[in-house]
Amino acid sequence: MSDDTDIAPIEPGSDPRESVRQRVFVVGAGIMGSGIAAQCALAGYPVTLEDVSEELARRGLAHAGRALDHAVAKGTVGAGDRDAALARIESAIGLRRADSAEIVIEAAPESLEIKRALFRELEEASRPSAVLASNTSSLPITSIAQELKDPGRVVGLHFFNPVLQMPLVELIPGHRTRPEVVDAARAFATRLGKTVITSRDTPGFVTTRALAVLLNEAAWMLYEGVATREDIDAAYKLGFHHPMGPFELADLVGLDTALAILDVLWDGFRDPRYRACPLLRTMVAARRLGRKSGEGFYVYPARGAAP
Ligand SMILES: NC(=O)c1ccc[n+]([C@@H]2O[C@H](COP(=O)([O-])OP(=O)(O)OC[C@H]3O[C@@H](n4cnc5c(N)ncnc54)[C@H](O)[C@@H]3O)[C@@H](O)[C@H]2O)c1
Repeated sequence: MSDDTDIAPIEPGSDPRESVRQRVFVVGAGIMGSGIAAQCALAGYPVTLEDVSEELARRGLAHAGRALDHAVAKGTVGAGDRDAALARIESAIGLRRADSAEIVIEAAPESLEIKRALFRELEEASRPSAVLASNTSSLPITSIAQELKDPGRVVGLHFFNPVLQMPLVELIPGHRTRPEVVDAARAFATRLGKTVITSRDTPGFVTTRALAVLLNEAAWMLYEGVATREDIDAAYKLGFHHPMGPFELADLVGLDTALAILDVLWDGFRDPRYRACPLLRTMVAARRLGRKSGEGFYVYPARGAAP
């Protein structure tokens, strides 16, 4: 991808609308993939949102629709722009359609094994010129790209949840990422309207390292009986002006993701700061994953409802 892909030549037989913006292929239609798809579509990109089953891909599409509806209700997006964005998103199963994209954004679960396997497949399924970006929140990009023939194509592009509302993207060049790939990824995120910060490729980068300690410390305080979850949440919100308490935030992020992140930091640094609170591990084992499973630190009676 280059900076001028906005006005790429029309290839014979291609859809002329696609020449306006090159297609974005999003792998994983969960919380993040669906939000990223909505954001890219709002910026005018045709988007393929992919998952392992039709049901999951459709669910992701519905989630992207709800995120856009929410933005319309808040007045940040017009109803016409929402409809146009939704019309630009298609769902898919499998990586076949990746060959039509100039940027691929992987938003599959936070597992090095899953991501490495996916990138091996993506390297074959996509155009050699396409940028392969990972939305990982903690795994080193160099490790994700380690087994590829061309690790120079891989870059970290870390969006925040909820994607349409959060203005930041963290850009992480891997050890072997080519400078033009870094430039293309930065230009792409800027075109989405995001502010880009750059982090060195160390576990957790800047933001996740800070967040992991915050969430883990709150979990330890609850585990030790220092205060109730409501009082700990109130402490962060009213004492530090955080928009959400740590447990509300953990439920939004997903406890499985939060735990996986702590384990990556522990593996990477072997520093006791990152020793995950056993409470998190127990809750994940019990599938109390937060909003996405209907119950985490709080109970969510209905999709989108308050705790
Ligand atoms: N949740 C957050 O707040 C947040 C924020 C920033 C970054 N991230 C990162 O984004 C990534 C996704 O997180 P999430 O919260 O959206 O997870 P999620 O569990 O909501 O979604 C992951 C999706 O990937 C799908 N998937 C699994 N294996 C796949 C495969 N082989 N091919 C295609 N799809 C596959 C799953 O079916 C699921 O729909 C993770 O790397 C996470 O660390 C998460």
